[in-house]
Amino acid sequence: MTFSELSPKQKEIFTWCYGQDHDAIICDGAVRSGKTMCMITSFILWAMKNFNGAVFGICGKTICSAERNIISPLFEIADLTCYFKINYSRSANLLTVENGRKKNSFYVFGGKDESSYMHIQGITLSGVLFDEVALMPRSFVEQAITRTLSVENAKLWFNCNPDNQFHWFYNEWIKRADERNALHLHFLMSDNPTLSKAQLDNAEKQFKGVFYDRYIKGLWVSAEGVIYKDFAENTDKFLLEEVPKDIIRCNIGFDFGGNGSAHAGICTGFSRRLQKVVILDEFYLKEIISPARLEREIINFIRRCQSRFPVYDGYFDSAETTLIRGIKNSCAKEKLNFNVNNAKKSEISERIKFTDMIMSQGRFFIMKNCCHIIRALQSAVWDSKAPCDKRLDDGNYNIDSIDAFEYSVEPFMNDIIDGAAAL
Ligand SMILES: Nc1ncnc2c1ncn2[C@@H]1O[C@H](COP(=O)(O)OP(=O)(O)OP(=O)(O)O)[C@@H](O)[C@H]1O
Ligand SMILES: [Mg+2]
Repeated sequence: MTFSELSPKQKEIFTWCYGQDHDAIICDGAVRSGKTMCMITSFILWAMKNFNGAVFGICGKTICSAERNIISPLFEIADLTCYFKINYSRSANLLTVENGRKKNSFYVFGGKDESSYMHIQGITLSGVLFDEVALMPRSFVEQAITRTLSVENAKLWFNCNPDNQFHWFYNEWIKRADERNALHLHFLMSDNPTLSKAQLDNAEKQFKGVFYDRYIKGLWVSAEGVIYKDFAENTDKFLLEEVPKDIIRCNIGFDFGGNGSAHAGICTGFSRRLQKVVILDEFYLKEIISPARLEREIINFIRRCQSRFPVYDGYFDSAETTLIRGIKNSCAKEKLNFNVNNAKKSEISERIKFTDMIMSQGRFFIMKNCCHIIRALQSAVWDSKAPCDKRLDDGNYNIDSIDAFEYSVEPFMNDIIDGAAAL
């Protein structure tokens, strides 16, 4: 790709670093608004113009996400590849950029990776780019900033989508940008000159509620009220009487109960190219029962699902290792063709965002008789007192069925989202 046209805000990303006025730039706002690609290009051009033999940091939420969102796309940017020899070593997480006369190193760090904490401690950095800084722990960001303090003319580059208004980055950096000598640019999708009217309209449809406010309008707002508003208000449009014919594979997700919560299982089906996600069957038991009986009930549920659907994988709440071992043994004893896996248990906010997205895209359905998960999704509300996005879990809500559903879709979450981009 080339930057044949730049919006006025994008132009500022390319020019601010050559002046003396600011030590940092913060670009926050809507998704796809053209923050990351301009920032990484400008960051490398600035580093190559001003330094030789220096070391810089490129930080993502994890090393893996930085490689996917920044490093891989960077090799497609003609404005860089035409002028520099660029190399990336995956084993060393090191990007080197050279042009015959100069050579600089850019280490890739992940805010959430244990190993990054260790490596970043001893290093001196002449500049750091933080992509999606709102997803990184404050301690990591501050540690990285400390590494730049001994270098004259070091500069910092931050970008992110908004989170809630109590977020540390919003309060410490965005609200105090002037004090910190930082240039703050707020982006909307219209600041990306490559998006057509149809693409803008389509992107708007992908989000509802708090996610619309944050990712489309670019606002720092907290999550309040009903989580799946469209589902709660228009439940019928998500319900099916008959199982779709194009379901090609299924997963079971299972959340074990205890302390007042229920044992909940969900069997979710996926159509070709992961286009549709359909809840096909459910298990729900809110009783205190012996582990042996629970095991038997779960095996019966697996059998019931297998008699109707192509389901060979289950993802179980990994906290309950003894129960999981018991189910594995029972499956082996009864010769069930079924893999018992630990649930991934990714961040709750990511899971909620995912479900909201497939609901908005019209790709999510539930069989009409799965009354527990239907009720659970209708009634789920945000915990307005929590400092970060959380579902209210005070014993009055059925979080268990939702957890079980999420465990069943987690292995495919990224592919389902990427599939949407390819549609
Ligand atoms: N001026 C431009 N010229 C060409 N392509 C552009 C331009 N601005 C943005 N793009 C392209 O638009 C897409 C979105 O840009 P980018 O990933 O930088 O947005 P972002 O604001 O970081 O999004 P997110 O908040 O979702 O991470 C990318 O494919 C990028 O290459
Ligand atoms: Mg980005």
